[in-house]
Amino acid sequence: METLALYIHWPFCLSKCPYCDFNSHVRDRIPQARFRAALRTELATEAARLGRRTVGSVFFGGGTPSLMEPETVAALLDDTAQLFLLAPDAEITLEANPTSVEAGRLAAFRAAGVNRASLGVQSLDPVALAMLGRQHSAAQAVAALETARRIFPRLSFDLIYARPGQTEAAWRAELRTALAIAADHLSLYQLTIEPGTRFETLHRRGEIVLPDGDTAAALYDATAMESARFGLLPYEISNYAVPGADYAGIGPGAHGRLSLDGALFATRRHRAPEPWADLVERQGHGTVEETALTSEDKAREMLLMGLRLTEGVDAGRFAARCGMSLTDALDPVVLDDAIAADYVTWRDGRLVATREGRLRLDSLLAALVL
Ligand SMILES: C[S@@+](CC[C@H](N)C(=O)[O-])C[C@H]1O[C@@H](n2cnc3c(N)ncnc32)[C@H](O)[C@@H]1O
Ligand code: SF4
Repeated sequence: METLALYIHWPFCLSKCPYCDFNSHVRDRIPQARFRAALRTELATEAARLGRRTVGSVFFGGGTPSLMEPETVAALLDDTAQLFLLAPDAEITLEANPTSVEAGRLAAFRAAGVNRASLGVQSLDPVALAMLGRQHSAAQAVAALETARRIFPRLSFDLIYARPGQTEAAWRAELRTALAIAADHLSLYQLTIEPGTRFETLHRRGEIVLPDGDTAAALYDATAMESARFGLLPYEISNYAVPGADYAGIGPGAHGRLSLDGALFATRRHRAPEPWADLVERQGHGTVEETALTSEDKAREMLLMGLRLTEGVDAGRFAARCGMSLTDALDPVVLDDAIAADYVTWRDGRLVATREGRLRLDSLLAALVL
């Protein structure tokens, strides 16, 4: 049985950032004790049906998991070790925001067992941080990175680029500063306008304007070039699970993919925090949907995930997981065209999107995947 990745969702934040559509909520007082108990219950329920599988990684995501009391993180990790087999080299990541409140807790998270921090820096430019509605300054972000570097064996941080008004020169300068501080990994996200966010409203009214296609491509190339100089891959996406591997999602809105009795199930928990906790208190879990995936579902998912990654989609792994060959899952005419246009290419038995392909990945996938 393959190792299991465990994802634990903490749904609370200090404030709602205007670009963000993650399942995150602001409360006057975070119900810490209630959510600690509910997360532990849901974890125990999941363990009871999955059995003592080996957990290869744990990811505390959010929301803002650095707002969790460290005892909650410790309790969940202790439970994981008792209920499952926690691999000795398991990567245990916690997403942290660099406000002073949270930076003060980093040592306690390390003591609880976290061995990798992922800091939401977003920008090192004060004007951009204000525009993004962040609660921390650039200086606080740098200080938090320095503290985190002393505490955690592994450290990563997030930046958002292709922001309104961002020039290529300014982004190169910001990225160089970031790369000079970076430890082992950096996640670079192009700003996207998500439905239902404050930015969507402002964008619709023309009050914020994203870089045009040429500028966005130049920013993307600058990102690739600067990152390559530091030996970092620009396309790396911070995935807590390998495409096609099992993962269990605990907490409000968390998704899971679990092999049970020879089938692969997609699970989803209730998204709203308090109704989720009500369900867990009543029935031991907040699952609202559990469906067996068809071969086509599995194929589509693995392609959507895999083609975003530098290593692409492995044809052998694909066939084993989905029960069909990789080429059978793709429109042959579109595939030939995409190869001819150098949007995708075959490399050592893997289908990989090229730079040009990545720039138009969404439309490419829509046409390519059957
Ligand atoms: C779960 S989120 C946030 C983690 C943490 N709460 C924080 O704010 O730092 C993970 C990352 O997604 C990125 N992100 C969120 N919304 C985005 C958007 N609309 N466009 C681009 N990147 C986004 C941010 O870089 C963020 O750090
Ligand atoms: S970006 Fe992070 S801090 Fe901001 S609302 Fe989203 S999850 Fe919360």
